[in-house]
Amino acid sequence: MAGRIPQQFIDELISRTDIVELINEHVPLKKAGREFTACCPFHDEKTPSFTVSPTKQFFHCFGCGAHGTALGFLMDYEHLDFVESVHDLAVRANLPVPVETTTSAGHQQDSSKLYTILGEAATWFCQQLRQHTDAQHAVDYLKKRGLSGETAAAFGVGFAPPGWDNLLRAFGSSAEQIEHLLKAGLIIEKEHGGSYDRFRNRIMFPIHDTRGRVIGFGGRVLGDDTPKYLNSPETPVFHKGRELYGLHEARKTVRKLERIVVVEGYMDVISLAQHKLYYAVATLGTATTAEHLKRLFRIVPELVFCFDGDRAGREAAVRAMENAIPEMREGRQISFMFLPEGEDPDSQIQAEGRGNFEARIADSVTLSQFFFDHLTAQADIATMEGRARLVELARPHLQRLRRGIFREMMLTRLGELSQVKLAQLSVGNKTTTKKQPYGKNRVKSALSPLRLVVALLLQYPGLAVLAGEPQRFRHFGGTGANLLVQLLELLQTNPELKTGAVLERWRDQEEGSYLAKLAQWKPPFEDTDRLEAEFSGALVRLEQQLKNRRAEELLHKAQAGLLSTKEKDELQQLLNRDN
Ligand code: UTP
Ligand code: MN
Repeated sequence: MAGRIPQQFIDELISRTDIVELINEHVPLKKAGREFTACCPFHDEKTPSFTVSPTKQFFHCFGCGAHGTALGFLMDYEHLDFVESVHDLAVRANLPVPVETTTSAGHQQDSSKLYTILGEAATWFCQQLRQHTDAQHAVDYLKKRGLSGETAAAFGVGFAPPGWDNLLRAFGSSAEQIEHLLKAGLIIEKEHGGSYDRFRNRIMFPIHDTRGRVIGFGGRVLGDDTPKYLNSPETPVFHKGRELYGLHEARKTVRKLERIVVVEGYMDVISLAQHKLYYAVATLGTATTAEHLKRLFRIVPELVFCFDGDRAGREAAVRAMENAIPEMREGRQISFMFLPEGEDPDSQIQAEGRGNFEARIADSVTLSQFFFDHLTAQADIATMEGRARLVELARPHLQRLRRGIFREMMLTRLGELSQVKLAQLSVGNKTTTKKQPYGKNRVKSALSPLRLVVALLLQYPGLAVLAGEPQRFRHFGGTGANLLVQLLELLQTNPELKTGAVLERWRDQEEGSYLAKLAQWKPPFEDTDRLEAEFSGALVRLEQQLKNRRAEELLHKAQAGLLSTKEKDELQQLLNRDN
């Protein structure tokens, strides 16, 4: 979700922007029926498969699968981040972007307080590093690790003094302040009242968002205690799976970033900067997510993942590679570098200096090379059986590649290695919708009831009023049912939302791409009666399906003798249905 910019404003922005007009300024569009088409700006093609729908306020390419709203277009086409795109559209629409502190939405208020207190805390930690009576061993520690005062300052490195309430005493002057400290993850509530500092006797690394605001911290022990690093918990402003440590600093220091090296640790980033390698970032103790990759590719076309040379490092590399495949396309490059066993980027650059380290970067293995090396290590391509296995291993991954030159090249390579003709590899594409995939009467068999309901809602949000009380689906649990509840509730209260505005609500969430795919589906019928009938029919089928599933689940439990009285009643009711 949009997070800091009020959702209402995003809705307004999408409804004030004409996506056709916007895209036409960059890519000349031709009218084709109700839609507009062009050759896709996101992949190479000779016949147009890029379409823009004015009714849905949404674009979609049948060739490469690119799709999105006006905001998404600006992000992809102009390589802007979300906030930058919002600002661009706002200028076009002549709307001022609401400033958080003046908005009336409670959530916005809270977040701005959190940014303030986190920023103040960061400054305070820095002061403690300079002034606190116990700071000397922290300063010594940083020196021992080779950091200059300049580098420490560039990263805002600080010190949380020993003791349970230093920060609390400095900032927790009122109940309100204490509430903010808690929400920001800086203090922890005791079970029987009161609270205490989360970070004690640790070196503090502030984590910034791309706008330079402090959103959280990593705190390292000075010795060998555990945990070695303590991180801020997830808060309204801090999400580990999205943020990258050092990205803000890299963007600030290097005017035009050309590539980014992704490492594992805070100290790796800082130590590389100490050696004047300013383009490293670290994930925050998590595997690299699709979200990370999207973010990075908006900034640079080339990423280099740096891993330890041990087994754990190789495994992490395989995971990163698998997550990266859907993000790969021509014009983007991902490669992997492996350090000698037992080394991390920090120790390596200290041992050999920047020149040698950068030579390793230049020598890194490209994603395609790593992909096939990894697979051929599991299948002996000297034998026919091994080559068949190679195709089987590769197929599910290659299916997740976008259509385009890069995909063709990967398939060609697979063909060479397996000695199978390209046409026989039959690697379908799961990420894109084929042209006119749904024949006239195939709608029922092509989409499950849930998908059909969701797809219809996305195209015709007005149908939501026909759906009755959304909460009745919640009872069944499951992500699909929950998503439906959210969607229905949203559209019943905001029936005027267009497809594009609806999709913006799920930006950055896993369900977002599922919804975007369904939004590309074209109903094979258009008249209102038929639409309403299909929608109601699908809802009835969906409810039945959910009830059947629930009945099965309860029956299962009954066989194991685990039913509560309430569940017995529920099962009775489900079985008494007239179907
Ligand atoms: P490492 O254990 O490789 O530490 O963790 P490091 O970065 O080399 O740290 P130094 O050199 O000993 O100071 C890599 C990353 O994993 C996360 C942190 O983000 C860390 O930077 N991590 C590690 C934690 O979150 N908690 C831990 O206890 C350990
Ligand atoms: Mn280290």
